[in-house]
Amino acid sequence: MTDPAPGRTGFEFSRLRRRPDVEAPNLQAWDAADALLLDTAAADLSAAASEPARPGITVIGDSYGALTLGAAARHGLRGIRVHQDPLSGEQALDANASDLGLPGVFTHQPLAAPLVEGARVVLLRLPRSLAALEEIAALIAASAAPDVTVYAGGRVKHMTTAMNEVLARYFGAVTAGLGRQKSRVLTARSPLPPGQLPEPAFPVSQQHDVGLAQPLELRAYGAAFGGAALDPGTRFLLPYLAEARLARRAVDLGCGTGTIAAYLALTRPDLRVLATDQSAAAAASAALTLAANGVADRAVVTRADALDPLPDSSEELVVLNPPFHIGAAVHAGIALKLFADAGRVLAPGGELWTVWNSHLLYKPALTRLVGPTREVARNPKFTVTVSTRR
Ligand SMILES: C[S@@+](CC[C@H](N)C(=O)[O-])C[C@H]1O[C@@H](n2cnc3c(N)ncnc32)[C@H](O)[C@@H]1O
Repeated sequence: MTDPAPGRTGFEFSRLRRRPDVEAPNLQAWDAADALLLDTAAADLSAAASEPARPGITVIGDSYGALTLGAAARHGLRGIRVHQDPLSGEQALDANASDLGLPGVFTHQPLAAPLVEGARVVLLRLPRSLAALEEIAALIAASAAPDVTVYAGGRVKHMTTAMNEVLARYFGAVTAGLGRQKSRVLTARSPLPPGQLPEPAFPVSQQHDVGLAQPLELRAYGAAFGGAALDPGTRFLLPYLAEARLARRAVDLGCGTGTIAAYLALTRPDLRVLATDQSAAAAASAALTLAANGVADRAVVTRADALDPLPDSSEELVVLNPPFHIGAAVHAGIALKLFADAGRVLAPGGELWTVWNSHLLYKPALTRLVGPTREVARNPKFTVTVSTRR
């Protein structure tokens, strides 16, 4: 996609990069929805810049910095409060800000009231899940300024009218703008007064029978993968983990709501678990799940890109249900990156257990990146493998 009028905007989207996320010729760090959001909100962003004494603007869901750095470069805005669920998004924003000479124009914030308190302009990249949108809408309606305008944009192919309905539960006025380059912006104003807002819904929780004496309870914030449901691939994998090697500690890589970590801790009373995910919502959800199942005392939860904090050859057992999305993009590179990092941190004899959609044919990659790989089980949809580090 070509950069829309870089000379006019003074900001070149094409200078943004995605690293540490996978970079490839068919993946770019910005899209037409980012450009449309900035154009649609331009007048309000300029007005916000002319009143620096009032709280600045808030950006939620910026992929790699197009919204934050675009708003800063075009309007001279500073003090932008930014929430990005994936850690790699934060890291890419930091690196892009430094490359573009815009460090210090924003702060990273968790998804909590200080992110939006007093804000009068919110730029929101619509999340993929309605639950994530609901949690964000509830937060803005409860804590932003009464005259806040929320510009919520995305690619038309990822948008549904249910998104308008979610926003309408929290805002008195929701309008849809005209489409441009397969993108659209919803504008929400007039947050409802506290008495008319829905009851807080998050975190949600669900119990699942996984063949243990007690049900497995999953807890989930809005943006956690799959909510509090049990992923079908993970359900297929769990019973086979009885065959995994003995270990002092197991790593649940890409832990989501912490299903695998909690199951392992429940089935192996001496095992310690490390649950790690780059999603802020996932890490927070996994901590709640581990506590809800009474195993928090043997668990550590971290938010990290792949297994970054772990040294080479340090672990005996890693379990992974790999993602195949990076944001909205479907790309095998993300799973391969996680396999390679598992191969790096496993000690000789250490095992990587994975479950994957059988059509993805990951066995050669697992063999190359980790070590000899054995198929443990297969059904029409999923394959479970164990790869042993040489
Ligand atoms: C298919 S989900 C599996 C979630 C959970 N383990 C389960 O079994 O239900 C994949 C998870 O990988 C996480 N993930 C994606 N990229 C990652 C990365 N670079 N580092 C760590 N986790 C990542 C996602 O946030 C997501 O929670």
